[in-house]
Amino acid sequence: MIKVVLLGAGNVAFYLANVLTMSKNINFIQRYSRNIKNDKYFDKNIPKTNNINNLSKADIYIIAINDDAISSFSKQLFFKDGLVVHTSGSMPIEALKCKAKKGVLYPLQTFSINHKVEYHQIPICIETENKKDKELLHLFANCISKNVYEINSSKREKLHIAAVFANNFSNYMFKLANDICDKNSIPFDILKPLIKETANKIQKISPIKAQTGPAKRNDNKVIKNHLSQLSENQKEIYNLVSKSIINTYN
Ligand SMILES: NC(=O)c1ccc[n+]([C@@H]2O[C@H](COP(=O)([O-])OP(=O)(O)OC[C@H]3O[C@@H](n4cnc5c(N)ncnc54)[C@H](OP(=O)(O)O)[C@@H]3O)[C@@H](O)[C@H]2O)c1
Repeated sequence: MIKVVLLGAGNVAFYLANVLTMSKNINFIQRYSRNIKNDKYFDKNIPKTNNINNLSKADIYIIAINDDAISSFSKQLFFKDGLVVHTSGSMPIEALKCKAKKGVLYPLQTFSINHKVEYHQIPICIETENKKDKELLHLFANCISKNVYEINSSKREKLHIAAVFANNFSNYMFKLANDICDKNSIPFDILKPLIKETANKIQKISPIKAQTGPAKRNDNKVIKNHLSQLSENQKEIYNLVSKSIINTYN
């Protein structure tokens, strides 16, 4: 059994806590968070501490806290045994400043607290400083996912940029679409089959082939008409994305 301590109580910690509890080969021995804010989302049977000097002895310590806090937080971990990993896509392994061995366990998915996801398909990107730690982290990652990848810090940074385009920006587009629906008393639900098909289609054909719409067709009259109806912020985004599509296809 791999003994694990989980640090943090946000979106990723919520996902990890669920998956750790479910795995037969993992012993989820303790969790840490600095306050009680999100305690209601976590299993009360898992011992919890808010004292960083009170952590139990474990094989793996997972730091699932804000990117900006990883270095200063890990500096406070004075123990030398065990493997300490962070879960960030954009921070290098060197962001960890602890005395123990270091690694990264980046789950490539979007997580929100109290929203459960299909665990076993989530790609887990791992990185360690040496072979022995890699074996342990592989073993651990294989307990929580069928898709484990070894990805170094520089590639993971690029992957994270790609993920920002694929998820964060496309979700913001959904938000803009939702605003337009709301403003015109149209139910957002009407767009959901289209959103689903957009994601489904690129499972089978490449994004470059899947593109449709006025900018792909270079339909200038439609584009002008759309622009005339938008707010300044929407216009700026519509224009920028349309220009990029036009340049790609023409
Ligand atoms: N969300 C995602 O979809 C996703 C996906 C993959 C990877 N990640 C990565 O996973 C990590 C966590 O992201 P998240 O979305 O779970 O963040 P989050 O929901 O904002 O949660 C962050 C957690 O870190 C704690 N924290 C922040 N600063 C701290 C400090 N100085 N000392 C102790 N605890 C501190 C917060 O505590 P308080 O509540 O007290 O502030 C909170 O429990 C990040 O590195 C992120 O890049 C996120």
